[in-house]
Amino acid sequence: MKKPILSLLACTFFAGCGGDETTASTAEPAPALSKTAAVEMTPVQRGAKIYARCRACHTLDEGGRHKVGPNLWDIYGSKSGSKEGFAYSKAMKAANIVWDDETMDGYLKRPSAFMPGNKMTFIGLKKQEDRDAVQAYMKSETTP
Ligand code: HEC
Repeated sequence: MKKPILSLLACTFFAGCGGDETTASTAEPAPALSKTAAVEMTPVQRGAKIYARCRACHTLDEGGRHKVGPNLWDIYGSKSGSKEGFAYSKAMKAANIVWDDETMDGYLKRPSAFMPGNKMTFIGLKKQEDRDAVQAYMKSETTP
């Protein structure tokens, strides 16, 4: 005899529980889930928003094309300036660093100071939490 109680509960989340059609679509506990998600964004979700500032110049997907900046698939653990088919600056080619949490953090904080002469015209992300979030997102998207 649980059914009537359940649909009653569902009706408290959805305005307009009347016809059979709307009742059918209230079977899932979606409202509770989406409420939680809105309050607590994961770092990856936050990073996705911040990545909007990089998207004009970079793709992240495997085999993605180079734009103003190189495609960043598999960037973690790879050497700076090593993506084939991209015309890097001399500074980037000579830098000889491996991208990891630390080097990426330094570069994204202020590209021009971290690597003088590199040609990424991006001011940088001042906030540590923003850099951490964008790194979490990049990792989730670029790791093979
Ligand atoms: C205006 C375009 C532009 C924007 C915006 C931009 N980049 Fe870049 N990025 C570049 C260019 C150009 C290079 C190559 C620099 C060079 O060769 O000196 C580069 C290089 C890089 C590299 C090194 C790639 C390699 O192969 O070694 C990383 C990592 C990177 N960008 C991440 C980011 C992230 C993350 C953001 C956003 C927070 C961002 N970029 C925003 C243009 C951009």
